[in-house]
Amino acid sequence: MTNMNEIKYRFPDGFWWGSAASGPQTEGAAAVDGKGKNIWDHWYEIEPNRFFDGVGPDKTSQFYYKYKDDILLMKESGHNSFRMSIQWSRLIPEGRGKVNQKAVEFYNNVINEMIAHGIEPFVNLFHFDMPLKLQEIGGWINRETVDAYVKYAQTCFELFGDRVKFWFTHNEPIVPVEGGYLYDFHYPNEVDFGKAVQVAFHSILASAKAIQAYRKLKQDGKIGIILNLTPSYPRSQNSADLQAAKLADAFFNRSFLDPSVKGEFPRELIQILKDEGFLPKIMSGDLAIIKENTVDLLGVNYYQPRRVKAKENLPNPNAPFMPERFFDHYEMPGRKMNPHRGWEIYEKGIYDILTNLRENYGNIECFISENGMGVEGEEKFRDQNGMIQDDYRIEFIQEHLKWVHKALEEGANVKGYHLWTFMDNWSWSNAYKNRYGLVSVNLNKDGERTIKKSGQWFKSVSEHNGF
Ligand code: BG6
Repeated sequence: MTNMNEIKYRFPDGFWWGSAASGPQTEGAAAVDGKGKNIWDHWYEIEPNRFFDGVGPDKTSQFYYKYKDDILLMKESGHNSFRMSIQWSRLIPEGRGKVNQKAVEFYNNVINEMIAHGIEPFVNLFHFDMPLKLQEIGGWINRETVDAYVKYAQTCFELFGDRVKFWFTHNEPIVPVEGGYLYDFHYPNEVDFGKAVQVAFHSILASAKAIQAYRKLKQDGKIGIILNLTPSYPRSQNSADLQAAKLADAFFNRSFLDPSVKGEFPRELIQILKDEGFLPKIMSGDLAIIKENTVDLLGVNYYQPRRVKAKENLPNPNAPFMPERFFDHYEMPGRKMNPHRGWEIYEKGIYDILTNLRENYGNIECFISENGMGVEGEEKFRDQNGMIQDDYRIEFIQEHLKWVHKALEEGANVKGYHLWTFMDNWSWSNAYKNRYGLVSVNLNKDGERTIKKSGQWFKSVSEHNGF
């Protein structure tokens, strides 16, 4: 482990070290103490085979029952901060209406316990978990969901805002758009570009309205959004490849980044939506609300870049409209892959994002809110003392941190690094296939936790504020 004299990459005082998780992926207790159903509970009921090994959201790591011990493990693995999410369908079982007092008690306990152990709570409001009752009226397509969400957000601020000083409106709001309405990996698994655009617009509007509601309460904290940014790299510098990368960037990054930080949408994107007849329904006053309620800070989730090239064949005019009408994906020869998740590992991408934020987004305050490496079959790395020797994860984090450090030296306004994730957890359709945690969870032994080698290493990084 690091010794004080050996620190080459030192981070600023007060740097946030920790990890991120979400309620639906960790809490379990899916039908307990008055929790309502969300789309994941429902999808699992009707299509269990969509989930790896048939494991559903009722089978997660049981944080609902084990949070006290888990918070001790956070301490033991060097956390000074932790991002959790409130499950909308636990707090307000039908999405709107009655508040569940058991949920209030649970989230109060978790927040108080973290604070008692010196762990700053970062709280996210929406992590893909649409309450089923609201999905039944169309979810984000229906404007009533925006109103219900703002009420839910306000309820959270009023209940917990005396102690929570870092709030986030959404985690990766583009993912429900992609998964639910374009590429079939989230419920309601439709393919409909028009609906996708409406969902995206309402998510952004909901975020701005929640920010507005938060500021009215004058609670003396910060509010932001967490975006998965995938820098778009062109195959070459020829103008057609450059244009392809620019449009991929507009669809997948700037669609949410620009309205969240600058309060306006990318012009290229609006033009495409206009030309193709896909502009969303916008009510008078919506754009002003988005303009006036931009974020205080940005969470950056970074896993992989997007590599694109100009289209090689003319798009089929009869195929459903997709962003891929403007570019092809490009498999760069020699790229480094995470074989388990099928995602490219390109550490410099994290630096390119931070540099872009510094140069083009007013150097908005930000932190790395997710970055991590999912690995299948980690049990084989467990040594005779019971510890998983995940040197590959240490290397993964270290190589990314070196680029974060370089960005910092050049003036990036980056305040922390949160790994995905604290302990192995359930994931959307991958269930427990890929393990990401600093702490392992043994599903065959009632979810027994053990700190991995990366957890010990992370503690030393946090204690020394560097490595
Ligand atoms: C992020 C999400 O996109 O990626 C997490 O915010 C998710 O919820 C993580 O678990 C890893 O993805 P996966 O599918 O490998 O678990």
